[in-house]
Amino acid sequence: MRVKKMTSAALVFLMLPLLISRGLPEPESSVAPMETAEREALYVVIQDLIGEWWNGSELYPDPCGWTQIQTTIPSSNWEKLAGSLENLEFRSNQGLFGEIPPNLGQLSNLQSLVLVENSLSGGLPGELGRLVHLKRLMLAGNRFSGRIPASLCDNLRELLILDVSRNSLAESLPSSIGSLSSLLKLDLSSNHLHGNLPRELGNLKQLTLLDLRNNNLSGGLPKSLPGMESLHDLLLAHNPWGGSLLEFGWESLRNLTTLDLCHAGLTGTIPEAIASLNSLRYLALDHNNLSGSVSSKFAALPSLSAFYLNGNNLTGKLEFPAELYRRMGRRFAAWGNPKLCYDSTGSIVLFGVAQCKQEQEAVTRNYDWNSNTKVDDANADEKSVLLASFWIPAASVSSIWWGIVVQEVAVMFLLVVFW
Ligand SMILES: *[C@@H]1O[C@H](CO)[C@@H](O)[C@H](O)[C@H]1NC(C)=O
Ligand SMILES: *[C@@H]1O[C@H](CO)[C@@H](O)[C@H](O)[C@H]1NC(C)=O
Ligand SMILES: *[C@@H]1O[C@H](CO)[C@@H](O)[C@H](O)[C@H]1NC(C)=O
Ligand SMILES: *[C@@H]1O[C@H](CO)[C@@H](O)[C@H](O)[C@H]1NC(C)=O
Ligand SMILES: *[C@@H]1O[C@H](CO)[C@@H](O)[C@H](O)[C@H]1NC(C)=O
Repeated sequence: MRVKKMTSAALVFLMLPLLISRGLPEPESSVAPMETAEREALYVVIQDLIGEWWNGSELYPDPCGWTQIQTTIPSSNWEKLAGSLENLEFRSNQGLFGEIPPNLGQLSNLQSLVLVENSLSGGLPGELGRLVHLKRLMLAGNRFSGRIPASLCDNLRELLILDVSRNSLAESLPSSIGSLSSLLKLDLSSNHLHGNLPRELGNLKQLTLLDLRNNNLSGGLPKSLPGMESLHDLLLAHNPWGGSLLEFGWESLRNLTTLDLCHAGLTGTIPEAIASLNSLRYLALDHNNLSGSVSSKFAALPSLSAFYLNGNNLTGKLEFPAELYRRMGRRFAAWGNPKLCYDSTGSIVLFGVAQCKQEQEAVTRNYDWNSNTKVDDANADEKSVLLASFWIPAASVSSIWWGIVVQEVAVMFLLVVFW
């Protein structure tokens, strides 16, 4: 048992690897268990580089208990590594706390700085802006606060990936973010950013991923977005953006595969231009205040496999083939739009959406049972036309009652017509 715990303790260290190598490391999966001999060798290397004072002792927890490993990133001696270190990585240790030492800015050859899933806090030091060869800066899942320093954006011209998601960064984005012109992926999700996005964001023409979900950004969807023609994933959900989707140049985002705009305070109608984005696979427009009808053109998107429209104020009839509902299953949602209905062809049942046609049949039956009046075919056709606009809004109990009331009114109305 004791041995087992020692092994686990060693693994905790291994989840906090200090990777030193030439060239970019392998992706995420490279964190593999390491033999004791290897670990000791690594210690010697680290001591060689950082200094004899570093013996890793604070990384060993009490072998009999599970005291949390508490340590900080060394704040000095980094200058010894300035010429050589290209990758520095501390990952997945809740016991790694404190701030990023400004001295890390001395590592002028650094290409990859990965400090993810730790308990680091404080502001992002402006000195990181001195890491001019940095290609990858990943600081996700810590407790960083304050502003994204302008100096960082001004100088990191070679940066390809910036991920500071799941922190507590606040204030607005600096306009100098537009200087990161090589950037391919920008993930600022789950922070406390607020205000408008700077126009300069549109300078990031290479960007394939923009993730700003779960912030407090407002002022309407940024007008500069349509210039970002390389975008594959545009994730703006859970922000009080406000404004509409119209007049936005959606057509230019031809490579867009994921568009997440749920919980974004959007109003107005859904522009048909979105239905022209042929690469779309995932489209979430739910929980906004969108109105008007839904274009049938969305059915023609060849790769669309998830389509969320629920929780809006959409109206009219969904003109999609049953095949679309069958293909998407639960990844199609339109409930919570009290004035929306669909045709019940092909025994499809859409959760929480009224059936335009079923009502018609139900009323027809009621009519036949409740009266002795002869119905000839001509009259029946006329009736279909009349009743096509009645439907049962099934989104809530109270609206179901309302639907029943409407049905009775419809039946009474017909009796009057045919009497
Ligand atoms: C490691 O260094 C600390 C001081 O930094 C010292 O107290 C401790 O005894 C050392 N441990 C080993 C195993 O050398
Ligand atoms: C969001 O930003 C607005 C100002 O734009 C502010 O009044 C509000 O308190 C912020 N909300 C949160 C949760 O930070
Ligand atoms: C869109 O994707 C295609 C194929 O992946 C690529 O050739 C093209 O350059 C991309 N367009 C833009 C504007 O990035
Ligand atoms: C939707 O818009 C209407 C009218 O503009 C407004 O009264 C309502 O509060 C909005 N609802 C939401 C959830 O934003
Ligand atoms: C829904 O849209 C109608 C107009 O189609 C509008 O009158 C009404 O206020 C909207 N309701 C909400 C809750 O937004």
